[in-house]
Amino acid sequence: MIATRIPGPTGHPLIGSLRALRRNILDTYQRAHREYGDVVLFTAGPPGWRLKIHAVFSAEGAQRVLATESANFRKDSRVYQVIRESFGDGLLTSQDETYLRQRRLVQPLFTRRQVNRYADAICDEATAMITRWRQQPDGVIDVVDEMVELTLRVVSRVLFGTDIDAALPVVRRCFPTLSAYIDRRGRSPLRIPRKWPTPANRRAHAARRALYQICDEIVARRREGFDRQEDLVGLLTRAVDSEGARLSADEIRDQILIFLFAGHETTATTLAYGLHLLSGHPEVEEAAHKEVDQVLAGRLPTAEDLEALPYLTMVVKETMRLYPAAPLIGRRASADTTIGGYLIPAGSDVSLSPWVTHRHPEYWGQPERFDPLRFTPEREAERPRYAWFPFGGGPRACIGQHLSMLESVLTLAVILQAYRLQPLDPVGPVTVNITLRPLTPLRCRLIPR
Ligand code: HEM
Repeated sequence: MIATRIPGPTGHPLIGSLRALRRNILDTYQRAHREYGDVVLFTAGPPGWRLKIHAVFSAEGAQRVLATESANFRKDSRVYQVIRESFGDGLLTSQDETYLRQRRLVQPLFTRRQVNRYADAICDEATAMITRWRQQPDGVIDVVDEMVELTLRVVSRVLFGTDIDAALPVVRRCFPTLSAYIDRRGRSPLRIPRKWPTPANRRAHAARRALYQICDEIVARRREGFDRQEDLVGLLTRAVDSEGARLSADEIRDQILIFLFAGHETTATTLAYGLHLLSGHPEVEEAAHKEVDQVLAGRLPTAEDLEALPYLTMVVKETMRLYPAAPLIGRRASADTTIGGYLIPAGSDVSLSPWVTHRHPEYWGQPERFDPLRFTPEREAERPRYAWFPFGGGPRACIGQHLSMLESVLTLAVILQAYRLQPLDPVGPVTVNITLRPLTPLRCRLIPR
């Protein structure tokens, strides 16, 4: 039987739950889940502009939206519209025929074998970072700043190869401006037209122009064929599908921007929280040290070591359970669908939340406890597939998940070989700037081993 009314907070008579959602969406979702259950309806914004958000918190609901009924849930949500405006129609945002063609061309560049070729770049960058740390007089680092810089360097090397020196300064300067702009527009109920010359619009246009220019220059050189490189931009320019189709120069640029956008802060957040959680759980850190010492015996890790580092892999998975870097996943329903006994009508905004589902008491005992052993193969097999979905799922699952796991495990291995970490700050509140970010510094003291 289908219940008619989806439960949810009434909120303020004029603006509904707008203020609570803007102030702390994850906490608001978490409380609503406890109070109303697995499907909750929020209204937000003034009458006339009011959004209705259907939040779905069960593993079964996530599976239906992302996998079994994915054809009924489109990437037409506000956030995706805003990302599309700024970064064009790359793999993260494109849909229908365009998407299928792009995925056919790009997927072969992300096979396990292809991605494993980037292991050397990851270890090089991680080694350079700890060499720099050795010169730090007080041995204190902010793990967030360090991991953002590291992952930016890694993704830039993977994309641009030897052109990293030309690309990195522009990306470092312009990307944060554009990300912050997208985040603000995605959250604001009223969006000022992009053409209006407001300071925010002007800054975002300038940042986008500079990024386009550097990407276009590198792509043009590669397309001329004189500069044959095995980096991702080189591979994108040469990719051909079975029907002989290729990506246009604009499409290649859009993919580059999407890989930068989707592939750097996400892994940085995972690594930063991973290091901080390790520092606060000495017994876990010790077990991780033991594994790293046994398997690597002082040498640098390679992609082939990933399987021999199961404990470190579990540490990364448990970190992503507690701090999923993409804590919200949005869709818009294109047809009526029933979830958890409720009708979600066509046209509704639907919001999934790995943050809430990863703390769902039905799947996770003592959900706030950091316990990597939840991810032994036996215990993983006992849980519903979508109790843990930091990389999304179904046909639109993250294409970068192996790259990100490889980068996270290898980086932790390199750091743990050299250091123990001592936490200097408690874990503070988080915010969602499309991706999850800590609001307060996460500093650690490095203790050489
Ligand atoms: C911890 C790291 C990462 C997390 C948590 C993450 C999370 C996600 C999630 C949740 C989605 C699905 C979004 C949706 O269904 O609406 C996604 C898609 C995607 N991610 Fe990641 N991601 C990570 C790293 C990366 C990396 C390293 C790259 C590439 C360099 C990347 C590129 C993409 C792309 C292109 C898509 C769209 C795939 C498609 O629709 O076919 N991600 N990611």
